[in-house]
Amino acid sequence: MSITSEQSAMTEAPERVATRLALTPLGPHFGAEIRDVDLSRLDDDEVHAIRAALVAYKVLFVRGQDLNDAGQIEFGRRLGEITVGHPIHDSGDVPPEVYSLDSQDNGFADVWHTDVTFVRRPPAISVLRAVVLPPNGGDTTWADSQLAYESLTPALRTLIDSLTAVHDGSREFGYYLSQRRKGRGNLWEGETFNDLTPIEHPVVRVHPESGRKGLFVNPGFTSHIVGMSEHESRGILDILYAHLTKPEHLVRNRWQPGDVALWDNRSTAHYANRDYGDQHRVMHRITLRGDAPIGPAALSG
Ligand SMILES: [Fe+2]
Repeated sequence: MSITSEQSAMTEAPERVATRLALTPLGPHFGAEIRDVDLSRLDDDEVHAIRAALVAYKVLFVRGQDLNDAGQIEFGRRLGEITVGHPIHDSGDVPPEVYSLDSQDNGFADVWHTDVTFVRRPPAISVLRAVVLPPNGGDTTWADSQLAYESLTPALRTLIDSLTAVHDGSREFGYYLSQRRKGRGNLWEGETFNDLTPIEHPVVRVHPESGRKGLFVNPGFTSHIVGMSEHESRGILDILYAHLTKPEHLVRNRWQPGDVALWDNRSTAHYANRDYGDQHRVMHRITLRGDAPIGPAALSG
């Protein structure tokens, strides 16, 4: 079913959903396609509408676009403050704002993760564009971390509300930083990124715009929960990951040329299938600056 944003504003209330977008929700809870829009020719109302829809729907798909890197960056600038493509990865012959995930350069994302959570202020939003697609496969799937949180039992929610977890980028990028970059990453938030010291984030994140709570742990970067035994930490994280990735919490995109996906890293995790053998897959990502995650405990006290 296809509904206009005006209708969805009624059904989705009290979410702020703008009046200028033609949105097709992809399920009862999250994910939507934006129809009839050209991302290279947005007026200010459409930009505000996309921004609001992103908070409400968490992952948005826009088909049939004709963007290059410059156009993708320009679209990002309309939405927020753009970061360099990645704190560590050197994507080579692309603008510094672009992170190129190239299957021929070990560019895979076949582990559930939220982008760049191993830094103090992980990116709020990612925009991903299909550049080279395999004939089949390479789908990306997103999980709704707020829906997952809300569908846990109150007893488990109460427990995890007060927990903190450690995020460690060294498992994924430590070797790359020390060997390929000789210890010097990219200019990230004004400083050369050369330090993968693990950092802490709340296990439950309060979304800075909607106020909704969501799980903010991911198998890609979360190493353990603070103040627990390894056994307890592993057990709780495994429960949360299994719950987060239940089919009811997922939206999957089968990429077509011209597809652009944008998502809210403050309320989602995602996974890219690595099922296309030696076929080539290249995706270009840009990210928008986010804030330091806030947990429920910080709000209440
Ligand atoms: Fe990612």
